[in-house]
Amino acid sequence: MTPYLRALRLVNFRNYTNDTVFLKPGLNIVAGDNAQGKTNLLEGISFAVTGSSPRTPNDSEVVNWDAKFARTEARIAIEGSDAERKVAVGYAPGEKKRLSVDGATAPSLAHYAAGGAGVRAVNFFPDDIRIVKGAPSDRREFLDGILSSLRPSYARAVNEYAKAVQQRNQLLRRIRDGFSSERTLATWDQKVVDLGEQVLQGRDVAVPVLDEHFASSLRALYGPEKAAIRYSHSASPDGYAEALREAHSADIERGTTSIGPHRDDFEVLLGGVDLTTFGSQGQQRLATLALKFAARDHVRGAVGEDPILLFDDVMSELDGRRREFLAGYFLESTQAVISTTNLEYFDEEILRRANVIRISGGAVTENVAG
Ligand SMILES: Nc1ncnc2c1ncn2[C@@H]1O[C@H](COP(=O)(O)OP(=O)(O)OP(=O)(O)O)[C@@H](O)[C@H]1O
Ligand SMILES: [Mg+2]
Repeated sequence: MTPYLRALRLVNFRNYTNDTVFLKPGLNIVAGDNAQGKTNLLEGISFAVTGSSPRTPNDSEVVNWDAKFARTEARIAIEGSDAERKVAVGYAPGEKKRLSVDGATAPSLAHYAAGGAGVRAVNFFPDDIRIVKGAPSDRREFLDGILSSLRPSYARAVNEYAKAVQQRNQLLRRIRDGFSSERTLATWDQKVVDLGEQVLQGRDVAVPVLDEHFASSLRALYGPEKAAIRYSHSASPDGYAEALREAHSADIERGTTSIGPHRDDFEVLLGGVDLTTFGSQGQQRLATLALKFAARDHVRGAVGEDPILLFDDVMSELDGRRREFLAGYFLESTQAVISTTNLEYFDEEILRRANVIRISGGAVTENVAG
């Protein structure tokens, strides 16, 4: 009973004006030259099944430059059954986003993204290497993204926590500037701790599971050295409320909240070495892929269904042995959509089993499935 995407229609989405793509279970390869719309197509799939772009928080960027709105429509098949779900996302700048499932308005974006649309997605874009290489906020965003795709309540807790921290920060500055008294902080501390604990609980449950999947994925992708992710708390989870209280004077002086899940991080380790600081480009890229595979395994374990995999330009920069491993991995998955400029990365047998979609200038030029 694992769902997959059967068809996707993009209307005024990026450089697509109006086109439909048919997809199959297993491996789908989007092939085309540079700047033709491969990345846009993968982004479009993600937008269709989660209601947001994984590439930008600014929805208006996905609207075709010559259009006033963008729309995606997707048909999701349930394997081994005739049932099919139709989902649509419509967006016009300045208006509320419209999300519908079988013609009915979705209750919320968080609900739609956390399975409400009928299928979840794990994506990889080349820029995602920042999860390993970049700032702690990139790694937190990765964790929060996985957890939000599992439960709408987690997505809400993360958003409300971020708002509560901002409000506490404003108050800290008012206290510093003499417009408020320190006594008023207690109420905000309480709110921040209540929401922060929900975030921490979610992450504390997920990280050990991800760690295990990450270690086995990186072993398969890279080699036998022991890989791990290790969460680091900015404050001990047991003494969180107390630590926040103890930080009052320092926080007032700086005007920011110095501890809590918005300041946490995780280390990405290979053979005991921190890849964020010391990893080679290839190690960082493979570790990023292993984190994404761990996300897939975690989603599968938590909801009993595979997310679809959307992997952009994943084969470039990898050696032949690793490309072969990945091709096998995608072929065996419930559904993967990957993009490439170069079909020569794949041998004949793989191309025969895959669904190849050729695109050019924001239009599908060849698509056998359907
Ligand atoms: N909102 C938009 N409206 C119209 N065109 C857009 C919009 N956003 C991006 N584009 C254009 O779409 C084109 C295709 O972009 P895309 O990133 O999908 O290319 P690609 O096939 O992935 O190329 P590459 O192989 O270089 O990664 C680009 O020329 C880009 O400028
Ligand atoms: Mg691209």
